[in-house]
Amino acid sequence: MKKTKLLFDNNKEFEMNIFEGTEGEQAIDISQLRQNTGLITLDEGYQNTGSCKSAISFVDGENGILRYRGIPIQELAENSTFVETSYLLIYGYLPTQKELKTFSNMLTENSLIHEEMIHFFDGIPPHAHPMAILSSMVNALSIYYPTLYSEAFFSITFDLVCARLLSKIRTLAAYSYKNSIGEPFVYPRHDLKYTENLLHMMFNSPVKPYTLDPEIVQALRVSLILHADHEQNCSTATVRLVGSSQVNLYTSICAGICALWGPLHGGANQQVVEMLEKIRDEGLTIKEVIENAKSKDNNFVLYGFGHRVYKNYDPRAKILKQLVEKLFNKLNIEEPLVEIAMELEHAALNDDYFAERNLYPNVDYYSGILYKAIGIPKEMFTVMFAIGRLPGWIAHWKEMHDTIPFKIGRPRQIYTGATLSHYIPIEQRG
Ligand code: SDX
Repeated sequence: MKKTKLLFDNNKEFEMNIFEGTEGEQAIDISQLRQNTGLITLDEGYQNTGSCKSAISFVDGENGILRYRGIPIQELAENSTFVETSYLLIYGYLPTQKELKTFSNMLTENSLIHEEMIHFFDGIPPHAHPMAILSSMVNALSIYYPTLYSEAFFSITFDLVCARLLSKIRTLAAYSYKNSIGEPFVYPRHDLKYTENLLHMMFNSPVKPYTLDPEIVQALRVSLILHADHEQNCSTATVRLVGSSQVNLYTSICAGICALWGPLHGGANQQVVEMLEKIRDEGLTIKEVIENAKSKDNNFVLYGFGHRVYKNYDPRAKILKQLVEKLFNKLNIEEPLVEIAMELEHAALNDDYFAERNLYPNVDYYSGILYKAIGIPKEMFTVMFAIGRLPGWIAHWKEMHDTIPFKIGRPRQIYTGATLSHYIPIEQRG
């Protein structure tokens, strides 16, 4: 085990181990730092701090690499299905045909939500944001499908809880969409596969049957695969932190959905399309937008650009851009937002400000445009991200629970407030 030393000016020193992962990443193990030196570390936004060891996905930000359980994302996008990729992430290996069929059947059998849950929607106003509904309804699953933490711990129960969640999130998402447009809910069908069923429940209606287009199904399936996991991003780290209190899986995932909604995270895909629409509607020039993005004097953010880890082109954005071009050609769609997005990307990638900061398009830059072409409304874009990310969240929750015992997450802080003072009765406060 490699080691390093902290040297103090009073000649004291403290030796620490250096942990090395399978891809050569190295970390200083500071687990004994405070008890041996009285010091803690401080790292806003955890930019240099690892919260755990994980074998689920690997991101090489400098080289634009993303692998799920060692398999490059490009190969999974090309050859896998979302259900198979979910199995890979959660159980750690590509399933045999028998295992995949069993898993797929469990998802089919668990696609309905308890009929009583539908009454929850009665009180939800049409203008409610689907992410608010989804987080509430996912947590409500723990009302109808009680999973005592100890029960969920055993594999048989975990498999059922996992299948229920993976399957029902589609139904809850589709119902929240139908609720927002005042249309009757469309039940899942047992003869449809995962992505087909999601589109069926969202777009089919008793008065206007929806025809599943294989190109659209494949485009959405690949997008779900691309969103399935991404190391310790904000929402995954949230799922682990909340899950570390030993609360059930549904509630831990509810926390992840809430974190994902933020415009700096998964909410960016909706912001990107709204930004492009604003450029189109206000007739802004690309030059004006780039200048706004570089200026510190305004709160304009070039959504869909930049990333904490990728200092190269996000490999997912590359595939999504190809999907957009392919689908638009296939469906013969004229979408001015695509032209604006590509012109904006070209201008940013050729601007020193962005080059110096290694700012490239991220997964959210083209995903919203793709969802728009499929007919998914803006408010549902981050819901699509949540459905895609769910297997990753479940995989991280399981990985943490498989390492028994695991510690509750509880960061420290450095206090900067008032030193000791005393209560002053209100009469003496003037
Ligand atoms: C996702 O972590 C994950 O893996 C997330 C994700 C996943 O799969 O889970 O990949 C999904 O959340 C993608 C990111 C979606 N968010 C956006 O598109 C929002 C726009 N991007 C920025 O807000 C920002 O780039 C972040 C939040 C993504 C990353 O922020 P960091 O790592 O904290 O970087 P920073 O804000 O400190 O920026 C460093 C510099 C700053 O300039 P200087 O102070 O050095 O002058 O880059 C600038 C920033 O102002 N910068 C941008 C910019 N993003 C960063 N300038 C203009 N436009 C931008 N989009």
